[in-house]
Amino acid sequence: MTIKIDISASGQIYPALIGVGLLKQLPVILDEYAPAYRYAVISDDQVGPLYATAVLERCRSAGKKVDLHSFPAGEVSKTRKSWSKLTDDLLDAGHGRDSCIIAVGGGVTGDLAAFVAATFLRGVPLIQVPTSYLAMIDAAIGGKAGVDTRAGKNLVGAFHPPKCVIADPDVLSTLPSDERSGGLVEAFKHGAILDAAYYDDLRADTELLLDADPVAAKAAVAASIRLKGQVVTQDELEGGYRQILNFGHTLGHALEAASGYSLSHGAAVAAGMVMEAELGEHLRVTESGTSKTLSSGLAGLGLRLESLSQVDPEAVMSFLSSDKKRRSGRSRYVLLRRIGEVENTEGWSREVPDLLVQEVIEDLS
Ligand SMILES: NC(=O)c1ccc[n+]([C@@H]2O[C@H](COP(=O)([O-])OP(=O)(O)OC[C@H]3O[C@@H](n4cnc5c(N)ncnc54)[C@H](O)[C@@H]3O)[C@@H](O)[C@H]2O)c1
Ligand SMILES: [Zn+2]
Repeated sequence: MTIKIDISASGQIYPALIGVGLLKQLPVILDEYAPAYRYAVISDDQVGPLYATAVLERCRSAGKKVDLHSFPAGEVSKTRKSWSKLTDDLLDAGHGRDSCIIAVGGGVTGDLAAFVAATFLRGVPLIQVPTSYLAMIDAAIGGKAGVDTRAGKNLVGAFHPPKCVIADPDVLSTLPSDERSGGLVEAFKHGAILDAAYYDDLRADTELLLDADPVAAKAAVAASIRLKGQVVTQDELEGGYRQILNFGHTLGHALEAASGYSLSHGAAVAAGMVMEAELGEHLRVTESGTSKTLSSGLAGLGLRLESLSQVDPEAVMSFLSSDKKRRSGRSRYVLLRRIGEVENTEGWSREVPDLLVQEVIEDLS
C-alpha cells in the first residue's frame, strides 16, 4: 500500500508518496502528477547506474521522451558550476518549458536538480525521487533548492516545491551504511522535537532501519515526512516555527566545521543534539535525563564519532561566533522541554550565554 502525505507550498499542495516498489510505477505517477512533453532525469554518477537508467528504460517503454543528465557524486558537485553545466546540457538537448525534471538521488542531487528546475527557462516542473534516508525524510521535503558557495553551504538558491515526491524504500538497500546511520539522525531529531512515540519506535527498530528493512524503513520515512511536512506546511518560508528543525544544528554545524569536516553531518548533529539537550537541562528548560536518553538512542546508530575528541572547543566557539554575525547578535538554540516537545518561546529559539555553551562543549567533546 502506498502512503500519501500532502504537503502545502506556495498555496499548492503536493503529495509525498511512500511505497515499496513505487519506482516501478513511475510512468503512471508522472501521468498523474506531472504530465509533460519531455522529461530530463538528473542523477549523480553513483545513483545513476543503479536507478536512473532503469527509470529511463521504464519511461521509454511507456512511450515517454526522456534523457539522463549526470554529474559526479558528492557535496563537491553542489555548485554553480554544476548548475551551469546542467542547464547548458538541457538547452543543448533541446529541452523547453514543456519539459519536467526528475531528480533521482540523495540530497545533493535533490538540491542541485531543484535549483536547475527553479531557474531553467524561469522554472519548470520538478519531481523528487530521493534515494537516501536523508533525502527522503529531509532534503526532498520543504521545497528548498540550492548550491554551496565559497562563503558557505546553501547560500545561493530558491524555493521550488516539486509536483510530487516519490520515496521507494527498496532503493535504500544499496545506500552505504554510513549514509544510512547519518540520515537516520534526522529521523531521531524529528522524534525528539515532535513525537516521543516515534522516537521510541526508532529506538526499537534501529537495527532493522540500519539494515534498510523495507517495512521498517517505510514506516519511519512516512512518519518523518509527516512530521517535517507539518512543520514546513505551517511555516513555508522560515518565518519562525520551521526553526525547530534546527535542533542539534547550531552546535552540530559548528562541530562539523571545527572538525574540518572529518565529522559527518549526521555524527555532528547527533553530538549537537546531545549537547543542546545538556544546555537545556542546565537552564532547567529541558527535563533532566533527556540528553542521556538521546545519547543512548543515537548510540544505536553506530555513528563514527572518533574525531569528536579531537575537536578544539575554542574552534567550535569561534565558528559559533562567526555564525552570530549573520544573526545580528548571539547564537540561538532550539531547546527541548522533553523528548517529543520543544520549548515554545517567542521565535522558537533562545539565546544561551557563551560561558554555558563552552562548558557543555568542554564536557562532552
Ligand atoms: N533542501 C533541504 O531542505 C535539505 C535538507 C537537508 C539536507 N539537505 C542537503 O542534502 C545534502 C545531503 O544529502 P545526502 O546525505 O543524501 O547526500 P548525497 O546526495 O551526497 O548522497 C550521499 C551519497 O550516497 C549516494 N547514494 C544516495 N542514494 C543512494 C542509494 N540508494 N544507493 C547507493 N548510493 C546512494 C550518493 O551517490 C552519495 O555518494 C546536503 O547537500 C544538504 O545540504 C537539503
Ligand atoms: Zn541536518
